[in-house]
Amino acid sequence: MSDTPMDYAFGMIGLGTMGRNLLLNMADHGFAVAGYDKNQKQVDLLGQEGQGKPVKGFMDSKEFVQSIKMPRAIMMLVPAGAIVDSVIAEMTPLLSPGDILIDGGNSHFTDTERRAKELAAKNLHFFGMGVSGGEEGARFGPSMMPGGDAEAYKVMQPVFEAIAAKVDGAPCVAYMGPGAAGHFVKMVHNGIEYGLMELIAETYGVLKTGLGLDNAAIGQVFTQWNEGRLQSFLLDITKDIFAFNAPGTDHLLLDDIKDEARAKGTGKWTSQVAMDLQAPIPTIDTAVSMRDLSKYKELRVQLAAQYGPEAGQLPGNKEEVLRQLEQAFYFSMIMSYAQGMHLLAKASEEYKYDLHLATIAKIWRGGCIIRSAFLNDIFNAFEGNNQLAHLLLDGKVQPLVQGSVGGARSLIAAAVTSGLAVPAYTSALGYFDAFRTARLPSNLIQAQRDYFGAHTYELIGKEGVFHTQWTGLRDKVESPAGPQANQAPATPPVPGTKQSNEEPLNKHL
Ligand code: 6PG
Repeated sequence: MSDTPMDYAFGMIGLGTMGRNLLLNMADHGFAVAGYDKNQKQVDLLGQEGQGKPVKGFMDSKEFVQSIKMPRAIMMLVPAGAIVDSVIAEMTPLLSPGDILIDGGNSHFTDTERRAKELAAKNLHFFGMGVSGGEEGARFGPSMMPGGDAEAYKVMQPVFEAIAAKVDGAPCVAYMGPGAAGHFVKMVHNGIEYGLMELIAETYGVLKTGLGLDNAAIGQVFTQWNEGRLQSFLLDITKDIFAFNAPGTDHLLLDDIKDEARAKGTGKWTSQVAMDLQAPIPTIDTAVSMRDLSKYKELRVQLAAQYGPEAGQLPGNKEEVLRQLEQAFYFSMIMSYAQGMHLLAKASEEYKYDLHLATIAKIWRGGCIIRSAFLNDIFNAFEGNNQLAHLLLDGKVQPLVQGSVGGARSLIAAAVTSGLAVPAYTSALGYFDAFRTARLPSNLIQAQRDYFGAHTYELIGKEGVFHTQWTGLRDKVESPAGPQANQAPATPPVPGTKQSNEEPLNKHL
């Protein structure tokens, strides 16, 4: 490949591991590609790793941009946040109208929304694309979630389909929807990733503390599970971790690693957005909280001393507990995916993403971090019915849940009784039990809100909102709560609502 300007079909900004590997993957598929990084070391690495391939690294942004065929297609793979904006500011004066800029990092979807508008005003095509699969995925086939400028994606489609992971011959990349749909879907992917990782970590805790297994036996359990219905990338790497000794020692590297989990933030974003959209995803929320809790090491040590002894062994036959644990993991894994899919459905409605959940499940079956055998079941559920309101309603998922909830219940009950922390497991079961409750006790919350704040409530079988002067009733009964309790509601009744005096009080009780 000569250095003649406009020789290269594609450019990459950011030659970290992911950027370099994606470029090498493209080069393997016959695309001539250029990379740009301010760091000499990264550019040199690309040169070494790309020897004999149509790939070239640049340290000069102008030369880099000029080396790419017009209309240019350039991807950024740089850390999310302000760096993306500064790269865009550096690049835009060098680009020409009609060029395509792609953000392949883990940007927050609201940033992607904003950048798309800003760049459209400059006649530049822009789309955000989630890329999952880590180093190996980038090099040999990631799962990719592009969204936004559909016209620009069409131009890039052959390249991305060539480099994506394949499942049954189908590429793990598809257009997700308008706006920041691609980055939104990737964010939820990561939320599910957090949930599954926390479940595996809690499983490790049960196997180690609850069953007293040594590392070799724990590794065997994960290996065996990974050969059956629980097969997944995350279990696959977990079994490898249980076979990896610290260099030069005869013990696992895992045993030397601090029990404090870090996070770059995509899990937290998923929980934040889910709260905004009022889509319950408690297992993912718990996973985010548990990474945070793990960081309070000193406090944990203090509390362990104060409230010890720590958790004990689980009672019962080991084989039986292992069988329950397998069911508990399967059940809770289903709940994690179900929560993520439900959040996607809510977001699709709210943000008009027009997401096709079957397609999302389809491209998550290969290349990405949450790929698993169960994604086939999710794909089948939504392929049959994209309007399916919740994964748990699917006729084929139902027996899987019913067949595993018993084991989950027994295992969680035993763990809770013995003081073993299984918060993600517990949240998955709580989510299921609450969702299958036709009448929740939430009517009491409405009554309380109306009592102390005149926030009104709705009645069964009656249109409108209602307010009751609850303190009037209190005056007639013995109050153990002291003088404060007899005060009027904190806020006046909402104008336009029906007052309790329109209805006999006892009709509401
Ligand atoms: C992927 C991963 C990746 C993520 C890392 C680290 O799909 O390849 O989700 O995008 O950045 O897993 O995430 P945390 O630092 O938040 O754990």
